[in-house]
Parts: sequence; structure tokens; C-alpha cells
Amino acid sequence: MAGTSNSLLTTPSEWIDYQLIDSGNGEKLERFGSITLIRPEPNANWPKSLSGEEWHQRHHARFVARSSTQGEWVKKSKTNPSDWQITYQVGPIDIKFRLALTKFKHVGIFPEQAANWQYIAASLRKMKSQTPKVLNLFAYTGGASLVARACGADVTHVDSIKQVVSWANQNQELSGLKDIRWVVEDAFKFVKRETKRGNGYHGIILDPPAYGHGPKGERWKLEDQIEEMIEQVITLLDPKEHFFILNTYTSGFSSENIEKLIKTHYPQVRNLETGDLYLRPSGKHSTGKEKLIMSNYGRFRKIL
Ligand SMILES: C[S@@+](CC[C@H](N)C(=O)[O-])C[C@H]1O[C@@H](n2cnc3c(N)ncnc32)[C@H](O)[C@@H]1O
Repeated sequence: MAGTSNSLLTTPSEWIDYQLIDSGNGEKLERFGSITLIRPEPNANWPKSLSGEEWHQRHHARFVARSSTQGEWVKKSKTNPSDWQITYQVGPIDIKFRLALTKFKHVGIFPEQAANWQYIAASLRKMKSQTPKVLNLFAYTGGASLVARACGADVTHVDSIKQVVSWANQNQELSGLKDIRWVVEDAFKFVKRETKRGNGYHGIILDPPAYGHGPKGERWKLEDQIEEMIEQVITLLDPKEHFFILNTYTSGFSSENIEKLIKTHYPQVRNLETGDLYLRPSGKHSTGKEKLIMSNYGRFRKIL
């Protein structure tokens, strides 16, 4: 048999500084450390469990959408910060993230990715290679890069936006880590160059958006380029031991698409897992059934 696969729903667990408190009526109420936010969430198409009054009392700021790409943060009190920190623990290391109320509802972290960070840490801990090499593409503020570095990997972080890469660098400093290789480049261009150079990696993570741009205006359109990207990036995997994660928030690109894509370009794949990452509300009020699906993923590993 070429490989096994199963469909999994997975959610972050045991994260003190992050909590989905409630969701419903197209919104979510989340606590990031000491700050609680209300953000639009189109997938939350059920009634809220907590009352409107409780949402109001608990929150510090709310993102009010004005259109599908525009909106603004409204703080309950002017003294509530626009910039703060949270921690994510990887073994003995406390990774720190600077969070901020940025334009279009983002805060500098995608908390559901913690389910993939656990996979990265577990894979790296099992590897025999002394210093495994990890490549993080479309890497944003560096969650996966920091986790891999905290586990001792030699990490290359690629993103096309300079400000986002310097934000990731701030997170590295706050976390007391060093030596992540920062690359501001078009991810596809970088991969093509690495293929030509014959470089290899023990771990590769990709979280491509539906649309994006390289720093020189190179156009990224997932639908058109993902086949070639996966075909090339798979060749960078160390043949002896490796892990691989493809995640996407692109609607219409399902975990079945991811499975097919991986099996097509890596027919000998083993231990393939595909499914959805979700957030689950914690707290007494929750029925536990309101699983907020956030993204699709496919991942596999080969460990000696
Ligand atoms: C969905 S975010 C990734 C989230 C990240 N995995 C995390 O969990 O923190 C997509 C990222 O891709 C970057 N990006 C978009 N187009 C790109 C391109 N052509 N090359 C490299 N990075 C790109 C964006 O700047 C953004 O940071």
C-alpha cells in the first residue's frame, strides 16, 4: 500500500494563554492572555451560548467589519492596549508572541495552528539528525519557526512582507531565541532556487494564502500554482527522515484536495493525516459541539 490516510479534526490543547470563550451569530469571543476580543467569524453559524451582556462585559476590543476587506477595532476603554504579549510553551521554553490589533481583524497569530506546532515539536524530538533543517514558507509572524527553533532545529523562515518578517524577528527576541534565517522573498521563487541548489530539509511547513504577492510583485494564486509548488517542494525533503505540513485557509480547497495533491506528488507517502483544524470553546457553558473549523491540513512524517 502506498500510504495510509485518515481524516482528523484537531484543536490546540492545554494552552493557558489562549481560549475560545464562545462563538455564534457570526462572531467569536477569544481570550489572548489578558485581552479578550470579539472578531467576525463567518463559520460560527449557530446561536451564542453566553448572553450579549456577558460578551460585552468580558471583551476589551471588538472588530467591526465595514466591508469584506475593511473595518476597524473599537476598544471598550481607551486604556486597553493595542499591543501586548502572550506565551506558548514548548517543553521548557516559553515562546512569546507580540500581538497587536491590526487591520482586517488579525492579531499576529492563528491560534488553531498550535495543533500543527505540537506535530512539529513531536516530529523534531523523535528525529535522529543532530540539527534538523526546517523550512517555513508563507511563514507570517513565525509561530511554526519559533516552535521548530525552540526544539533545536536550524530554521529558514520565508515570507514576502518585510514588516511581517521583522515582527517574527521581534517574537524570536522576546522568546530568547536566536539564529533563525530570515528571508524576505517570494516563496515559490525561493523553492525553485533551493531545488536548483540541491538543498534539503528535514521539515517543511507551508501555509499558502489563496492570493498573495512576492516582494517584487510576483503573483501567487494558489489554484494555479499549488501543483507545481508541491511537486518542487517535496523534492527538498530529506529522503531518510522528514515531516511535512501543508495548511490552507482557502475556501474551496478541501482536505480531500490536499490528500490528492500529496499522494500525486509523493506516491510513497506514509502516515498521511488530512483533516480540519478547529477551535473548541472551553468553559462550563459550552456543549463542546460547536467546533469552529478554521483551516484544512495534510501532514506526514517519516522518522527513523
Ligand atoms: C495565512 S498567512 C500564514 C499564517 C502562519 N502559518 C501562522 O500560523 O502564523 C500567509 C502569509 O503568506 C505571506 N505571503 C503571501 N504571498 C506570499 C508570497 N508570494 N511569498 C511568500 N510569502 C507570501 C503573507 O505575507 C502572510 O504572512
